[in-house]
Amino acid sequence: MRVAVVGANGQLGQDVCQAFRAERHEVVALNHADVEIKALESIQLALERIRPDLVVNTAAFSNVDRCESEPMTAFGANALGARNVALATDAVGASLAHISTDYVFDGRQKIPYTENEPVAPLNVYGNTKLAGEYFVRAAARRHFILRVSAIYGHHPCRAKGGLNFVELMLKLAKEKKELRVVDDEFVSPTPTTQIAQQLVALSGSSDYGLYHATCEGSCSWFEFATAIFELSRTCIALERARPGEFPAKAPRPKYSVLENKALKNRSLNVFTHWKEGLESYLAQRAQLSSVVST
Ligand SMILES: NC(=O)c1ccc[n+]([C@@H]2O[C@H](COP(=O)([O-])OP(=O)(O)OC[C@H]3O[C@@H](n4cnc5c(N)ncnc54)[C@H](OP(=O)(O)O)[C@@H]3O)[C@@H](O)[C@H]2O)c1
Repeated sequence: MRVAVVGANGQLGQDVCQAFRAERHEVVALNHADVEIKALESIQLALERIRPDLVVNTAAFSNVDRCESEPMTAFGANALGARNVALATDAVGASLAHISTDYVFDGRQKIPYTENEPVAPLNVYGNTKLAGEYFVRAAARRHFILRVSAIYGHHPCRAKGGLNFVELMLKLAKEKKELRVVDDEFVSPTPTTQIAQQLVALSGSSDYGLYHATCEGSCSWFEFATAIFELSRTCIALERARPGEFPAKAPRPKYSVLENKALKNRSLNVFTHWKEGLESYLAQRAQLSSVVST
């Protein structure tokens, strides 16, 4: 297949390019310098030139707090941008894999959300990503929408700037004697490599539609930090933060754990338990740093 990856130099985009190349697909990487998805003509011209079989859209404005204060920019990239990619993809007869988020839910539920559960985003980011999903459904006949959650990869998230949660914890552990982490927000942390593998697996099927695509199990950020320090044998005094101790500009769901029901029903689910995903990430991280230091 010829695969065009939009947002190719992002945290997820880089692993997506690598995963498709590893399976000997032809990958055309499109960075922001190559296409502006807010402009229909820009993505149309790119896809008419490339003539892909599959377009993977990982591009988004995903800084949740900045989306709250810059709603027009967020709507431009996450909703209109998604619509433009969908229209341009459909026009060249390709299928589309679009990345969405767990933040389409309000987090009032206490059991994992399936694809059938009603959506009710709490913040601008979630609303614009949900609008993006609706545009994709309306404009691209052959689409996969993957809702992912709490992602982390070896390449930094460009929109958030700096370190993912795992790297941030490991850095802070070197700088501080004690750390306090929130214990009242529950997620399914998911390495980007597994999402990329899932995209490759889905791309071979014609089971189009909406998919929850996260690691199995769930944890609070405090529990995630505990596992990071245990598995990396890092000594630090870790405490639970008091509710409201770290106020954020945008409200976030307290529980956005997803159940990969549609993937499992079709025997397509590739995700491991989140702790296994973390173990692999830390092992790859150790390998990468030994390559750098030799
Ligand atoms: N990070 C998370 O925890 C999380 C959680 C749930 C869902 N997601 C979703 O996962 C996906 C991937 O996120 P990520 O962490 O890989 O983000 P990222 O590192 O910020 O990458 C996003 C990419 O999209 C590009 N981009 C942004 N606006 C664009 C535009 N208007 N036109 C063309 N390209 C544009 C960025 O380029 P520039 O940086 O050069 O602008 C960057 O290459 C997104 O759909 C996000 O909503 C992320």
